[in-house]
Amino acid sequence: MAATALDPDRLPQHIGIIMDGNGRWAQKRGLPRTAGHAAGAETFRTIAYRCRDLGIPYLTVYAFSTENWKRPMEEVSAIMGLLRKYLLEALEKMERDGFRIHFFGDLAPLPPELRELCLETQSAGQAVAGAKYQINVCLNYGGRDEILRAIRAWGKDCQAGRQDPETLDEEAFARYLDSRGLPDPDLVIRPSGELRLSNFLPWQSAYAELYFTDVLWPDFTPEVLDQALLAYQGRKRRFGGI
Ligand code: IPE
Ligand code: IPE
Ligand code: MG
Repeated sequence: MAATALDPDRLPQHIGIIMDGNGRWAQKRGLPRTAGHAAGAETFRTIAYRCRDLGIPYLTVYAFSTENWKRPMEEVSAIMGLLRKYLLEALEKMERDGFRIHFFGDLAPLPPELRELCLETQSAGQAVAGAKYQINVCLNYGGRDEILRAIRAWGKDCQAGRQDPETLDEEAFARYLDSRGLPDPDLVIRPSGELRLSNFLPWQSAYAELYFTDVLWPDFTPEVLDQALLAYQGRKRRFGGI
């Protein structure tokens, strides 16, 4: 059966991806888990360019969760090292490639050098004139932590008289989230066969279409992305209506 073509007018504007399965990919090959993370980072680059080439303006990727600190120190360090490498590359190329990079998550507990690099990358991106594509990297991100940080900031604003609990609505609250100002994800993709969200964008994904695939993240190709997009285009989004 010939694959149906993607409709360029009905692509999601914002895709979220839980980049999972790096460890199992490595294990299957008898390699250390860190080799899986290195392969997964390459996949991230490929998929980011594919989203850009399709004209999808927002891509949010889950790179490191608030729970991932439970892993062995060597694995955490290897992931941080990879982030450093790809951010340095992004700093160099984002202007040419038309990307902007943002971070979701609490950057405070990161190694200071990496945190500085994140902030530098983020502000360099803001300065890129006409960048049409934004990548949000979720780093030390947890949806519950994001909501708690938002509530703390909002509570302080209430104490200072800048906010009033009586007038808080969804739109006002969303301005305290890491995703402030951005559209909600239309499509959330999780590779690796796990059927859960693992604390990824719980507020923002309330009405996202979910797509799960058994493909492990390092094996995820532009063709797999196309399959997810085709599935998305076959869905009927109702948002509670009829
Ligand atoms: C996702 O791959 C990357 C991170 C969580 C940092 P995993 O490392 O979770 O891979 P699996 O799930 O163990 O295969
Ligand atoms: C989610 O994957 C986090 C990232 C992909 C960064 P995990 O591998 O940490 O999730 P669980 O533990 O399987 O739920
Ligand atoms: Mg995993």
